[in-house]
Amino acid sequence: MADASESRTTTDHDEVRARWGYRRAVVTGGAGFVGSHVCEELLARGTEVVCVDDLSTGSTDNVAHLRGDRRFTLLERDVVRPFDDDAALADVELVLHLASPASPVDYLRRPVETLDVGSAGTRNALELARSRGARFVLASTSEVYGDPEVHPQREDYWGHVNPVGPRSVYDEAKRFGEALTTAFRGARGVDAGIVRIFNTYGPRMRGGDGRVIPTFVRQALAGEPLTVFGDGTQTRSVCYVDDLVEGLLAFAASGHPGPMNLGSTQELTVLRIAEDVAAAVGSDAGVRLVDLPQDDPRRRRPDATLAREALGWAARTSWADGLARTVEWFRAQDDAAPGAPGSADGPPSPPLRVSVVGCGYLGAVHAASLARLGHDVVGLDVDARRVEALAAGRAPFYEPELAALLTEGVDAGRLRFTTDPAQVAGAGMHFLCVGTPQRPGSDVADLHHLDAALDALTPHLRRGDVVVGKSTVPVGTAARVAERLRPAGVGVVWNPEFLREGHAVSDTLRPDRLVYGTGPGDEELAERLDDVYRPLLEAGVPREVTDHATAELAKVAANAFLATKVSFANGMAEVCAAAGGDAVALAGILALDRRIGGAYLGVGLGFGGGCLPKDIRAFAARAEELGAGEAVGFLREVDRINDRCRDRAAALVTTACGGTLVGARVAVLGAAFKPDSDDVRSSPALGLASRLAEGGARVVVTDPQALALAQASRPELGYAVGVQDAVRGADVVVLATEWDEYRALDPAVLRPLVRRAELVDTRNALDLAAWRAAGWSARALGRAEAALPQPAAG
Ligand SMILES: NC(=O)c1ccc[n+]([C@@H]2O[C@H](COP(=O)([O-])OP(=O)(O)OC[C@H]3O[C@@H](n4cnc5c(N)ncnc54)[C@H](O)[C@@H]3O)[C@@H](O)[C@H]2O)c1
Repeated sequence: MADASESRTTTDHDEVRARWGYRRAVVTGGAGFVGSHVCEELLARGTEVVCVDDLSTGSTDNVAHLRGDRRFTLLERDVVRPFDDDAALADVELVLHLASPASPVDYLRRPVETLDVGSAGTRNALELARSRGARFVLASTSEVYGDPEVHPQREDYWGHVNPVGPRSVYDEAKRFGEALTTAFRGARGVDAGIVRIFNTYGPRMRGGDGRVIPTFVRQALAGEPLTVFGDGTQTRSVCYVDDLVEGLLAFAASGHPGPMNLGSTQELTVLRIAEDVAAAVGSDAGVRLVDLPQDDPRRRRPDATLAREALGWAARTSWADGLARTVEWFRAQDDAAPGAPGSADGPPSPPLRVSVVGCGYLGAVHAASLARLGHDVVGLDVDARRVEALAAGRAPFYEPELAALLTEGVDAGRLRFTTDPAQVAGAGMHFLCVGTPQRPGSDVADLHHLDAALDALTPHLRRGDVVVGKSTVPVGTAARVAERLRPAGVGVVWNPEFLREGHAVSDTLRPDRLVYGTGPGDEELAERLDDVYRPLLEAGVPREVTDHATAELAKVAANAFLATKVSFANGMAEVCAAAGGDAVALAGILALDRRIGGAYLGVGLGFGGGCLPKDIRAFAARAEELGAGEAVGFLREVDRINDRCRDRAAALVTTACGGTLVGARVAVLGAAFKPDSDDVRSSPALGLASRLAEGGARVVVTDPQALALAQASRPELGYAVGVQDAVRGADVVVLATEWDEYRALDPAVLRPLVRRAELVDTRNALDLAAWRAAGWSARALGRAEAALPQPAAG
């Protein structure tokens, strides 16, 4: 039925895309529902996108499909904090300001934050646009009309808003944002405009966000009655997200000041929406009428004349079509893991009281994730400052999505942190998440944190409690712990974690597998643990029940295999360097072999962090103790190859410096051991920076998240806050950690800042051809180590 209009849309769309002129855009709130569609469309139009989002209501899942694109950068930032002079924000031509909670559930949960983002956040985004001479668009809302007395609503209607009502935090934040945008346009000369968005729907809405369409779709798919407020005669005009994005970008390109309504003029009663959703899903569970919330608007429909006349824009997707696409997307999400922000699950029943002992990288994420699964969690740690930060909902280290999860758990009262071991009493299950570092001067694992945690915990355990080990330990530890706790009637399960820093939240809520190691006769403890992970199991996560030793080995064996893959690729790089081959191409060819696969075959500076290096050493040491050292003797070589990566990188930088490091100024981009983490333990990047400094170079290191920790761990090195300051006057620029924002660097912008345009890419993450085209001499570890011809000038 919609074919004629669809073919017209496609042609128009192609023309619009061809005329689109913005080269680089910032989208605040780009990991949210609307924002992620905006980012997608901007990339399709050839615009580089910097998505700035604190992930408070959005999710990296929404933009996961964009993150492989070099033109896309995700900066996890709160826009309420002023933008720093980040290189990724240079040359911005368009700022689309969408950051704000948008659904009643979200803004009522974060009322003060909603006002902050509408005021200080809008101010910071406006300042960014002003400093860059960029076009600015504020995503305002039809809520500025409140419960309107005029119908349909035209832009010159002032609205009917209760400034102290429950919705006021959102409505007034947007009204203030509009006033601020107007002031910046009038008094500060910013090319700023305002759009007022009416109800929009489509894929990537969250089923639990309280907005009418996703709520109905979720309820219908779950076979529940649809909850309709009041008698359902109140109206909404609903616009499919693709149409809205088209209108928003047309508005951006038009230079129009607004305010301009963007929305569909097809007005539907809420009851009709419910009936259509039920029909589209095939649900016969009916509707359930509930009380109308205070200040719920009775009628909503834009007068869309201005958008039609100024932009030639109107919503085109039919309600039937848009609904079908939305339902299809929600159905596909039914496979998504539970607890994920995009999934439609509720807490498991009944919630359990659990404790998490040790709240570092592993424990903080585990505690917050268990709270997300609906459990009542107390986190115990000896570090009072860490506990204080966590209890206030602040992540004491950088890990994507963690801050939002902590705030959610703490606000909901399901997540507490303490230094007092007595507080764990009454929790039936206790997760051991303490660190197991390498013993100084030895490869052996140091278990004194584990023993100290057990000492603190034991007096508060009750008969029938279960202690669940998550820490990575030498095989045999679980049996020892079980022996110790058996007299107290406490069982022990070893349930190793497999999470990767930088992906720890999603690895916890959406793991590849769960492994439970139980002691002889304790097999029924697996069912106790099932109750904790019920939503994950229901989502189809495989679970393997085995003995203690096998569970302990599952973790170290996985790490050993991954480390071996990395070092294999880097070993091949050494051979390639000797033979004149291209190790990156070789790894790419190996990756196509389905028996091998491409994961962990990256050629470059090697692995680091708080786990892999010390875990494989401890594994080899433990195997030797057990008399099986020869079986894993190759792990020593894996370690040596990994260490040589830093030497080879240092040699390459020396070559780029003209044969000696002495007196050379070297900018090192990256300090964290990998992107999306602020962990600098055994960081290859910092290891390389130190080698360069020891060789006589004046080294300046920068990193988007790890600067403070890097400075604390290697105070002898120089540091700079942003890329531009780091590279100023440099003889060589070294990419050492492949953060998205470094991948997106514009070599032409950096070129005038350096003394000599020499690049060394130790991660094979940059487009060398683009750097060379911008006048750089570019080398990469394992791929293009030999000096490469500099392009002809001009
Ligand atoms: N979807 C609609 O029907 C609708 C209607 C009217 C207006 N709007 C406006 O459109 C915008 C996007 O709405 P949405 O539906 O995509 O909501 P959403 O909650 O899915 O997206 C908002 C995004 O902003 C981010 N964010 C919130 N506070 C932030 C902060 N302080 N710093 C950085 N990022 C922050 C969130 O993490 C999220 O990714 C909002 O400004 C909203 O007011 C939406």
